[in-house]
Amino acid sequence: MTVKLEVQNLTKIFGSKPESVIDLVKQGVSKDEILKKTGHTVGIYNASFKVNEGEIFVIMGLSGSGKSTLIRCLNLLNKPTEGKIYIDGENILEYDSTKLRELRQKKIAMVFQHFGLLSHRNVIENVEYGLEVRGVPREERREIAKQALASTGLSGWEEKMPGELSGGMQQRVGLARALANDPDILLMDEPFSALDPLIRREMQFELMELQSRLKKTIIFITHDINEAFKIGDRVAVMKDGKIEQIGTPEEILASPESEYIENFIQDIDRSKVFQAKHVMYKPSALVFSKEGLKAAIKEMKSNGISSVFIVDNQRKLLGLATIDDAVRAVKENKSLNDIIRTDLYYTTDEEAYLQDLIPKATDSKYPIAVVNENNKLMGIISRVAVLSALV
Ligand SMILES: Nc1ncnc2c1ncn2[C@@H]1O[C@H](COP(=O)(O)OP(=O)(O)OP(=O)(O)O)[C@@H](O)[C@H]1O
Ligand SMILES: [Mg+2]
Repeated sequence: MTVKLEVQNLTKIFGSKPESVIDLVKQGVSKDEILKKTGHTVGIYNASFKVNEGEIFVIMGLSGSGKSTLIRCLNLLNKPTEGKIYIDGENILEYDSTKLRELRQKKIAMVFQHFGLLSHRNVIENVEYGLEVRGVPREERREIAKQALASTGLSGWEEKMPGELSGGMQQRVGLARALANDPDILLMDEPFSALDPLIRREMQFELMELQSRLKKTIIFITHDINEAFKIGDRVAVMKDGKIEQIGTPEEILASPESEYIENFIQDIDRSKVFQAKHVMYKPSALVFSKEGLKAAIKEMKSNGISSVFIVDNQRKLLGLATIDDAVRAVKENKSLNDIIRTDLYYTTDEEAYLQDLIPKATDSKYPIAVVNENNKLMGIISRVAVLSALV
């Protein structure tokens, strides 16, 4: 794994003389006391973390815990009081104005909670804004902007004004605008918080889909633990300007490091919170029926597995082939289609809660297949994922 971004001992204090209060913070004086005594606000204190390339790193915390302050340090909209920020191994605090401009225009883009669209520009003009600033010729930037809009599902809305769009659509424009610059890193500050729950879930899903194609490095902020655990590869939990714990959702659930985190997650019954879509993964091996028996065997061999799901050209699930059946079929001159079995495993849909999958996981030794309403294979769930949610 390549580290894309690294933050070391980052501190941000707001006020007229930030440096003057650092010692107080180091002595452990509380944020409230410091504010009372000195009029300074501790935004972030001593935050350190690494974000890997292609990862969705979520920063979660209650209102005022310092999430926006932190994310705004990453493109230096906030100037840190202390600390280092490395992007691709370079400390961006040492950048001159030219390099900083380049970083903001090309490498890093931000999506805001309240969309931040320019109301007097239509949709496509909003999306191409960053390219325009960079001096990309008109036709070229139109083309790029159109593609970015298409990737967020907004083709055909180019000429509309932001005010004519729903919140969800405006945020798609915000996302398209960020994507148009083709940044390596996307900073998303509570991008879905202003949306109602249904639209929000749809956007979360689409973001994850988009990410599986684009593989950006995403730093995503939320105050919602469910959103954090759903989207995040890893999650950093913040409290009063400090990072309390960093880990995968599973790690945090399994071993909360402080009472604060425990309180956060105590109401979460994992098997009731986690749904199939949260724990399913893309099967490492998948065989199209047209590929045939040999391909199926090869796929199992190279992945060290004893069964593999078989799909048709539309990725519709046909069934499961086991290595025993496959080897026998070779000897008997049979085809892959002859040995596809549908009686060995269970299927479920993405919305199913883990608690409802427990009987299926205990009853079959094969993974559970997650399919959509058209029987398209969306992912698979290991038995471990279901059963370990119980402990
Ligand atoms: N420009 C500023 N000047 C002074 N204090 C600030 C400034 N920006 C943030 N703060 C303070 O820093 C602390 C962290 O604020 P921040 O906006 O980062 O919180 P947040 O976690 O993003 O909260 P929310 O969920 O409400 O957006 C707060 O105490 C806030 O008052
Ligand atoms: Mg904020």
